Amino acid sequence: MVCLGNICRSPLAEGIMQHKIEEKGLNATVDSAGTAAYHIGEPADRRSVLTAKKHGIDITKLRGRQFEVSDFDEFDLIYVMDESNYENLKIMARNDADMAKVDYIMNMVSPGENKIVPDPYYGGDMGFENVYNLLDAAAEEITKKLEQ
Ligand code: 4NP
Repeated sequence: MVCLGNICRSPLAEGIMQHKIEEKGLNATVDSAGTAAYHIGEPADRRSVLTAKKHGIDITKLRGRQFEVSDFDEFDLIYVMDESNYENLKIMARNDADMAKVDYIMNMVSPGENKIVPDPYYGGDMGFENVYNLLDAAAEEITKKLEQ
């Protein structure tokens, strides 16, 4: 799960996905990262933590990290939130096989439409609830893909 800062959207995505993996007993691991270095080592944004908590998910232990080229080897599926994340990974990708692992997370719900999960950083709390609902729907589709 990849966003810009790894403090708002992708930690929520990780928490939601981890919750579903445990709930459904899936054999999968999930992690998150940001394309930027601003928030390395920091906990998730307070508003993401609260939004997750409201839905019974604890993301207090997550810490920000930056996406690394080795993540293309480490993971089979890499989901981005918006076009800026996508373009940043394109710059880091070594070949077509790396980029073949990358998709917009909302394409799990609306295939091929490249819809984005809007950056809630500068908005109010409602933006975080919207992000939660988008990510929960996408994560549900990812679990179906993993169960196939
Ligand atoms: P995120 O949100 O990419 O969902 O973690 C942001 C967090 C921090 C910044 C921008 C977006 N920032 O500019 O510091």
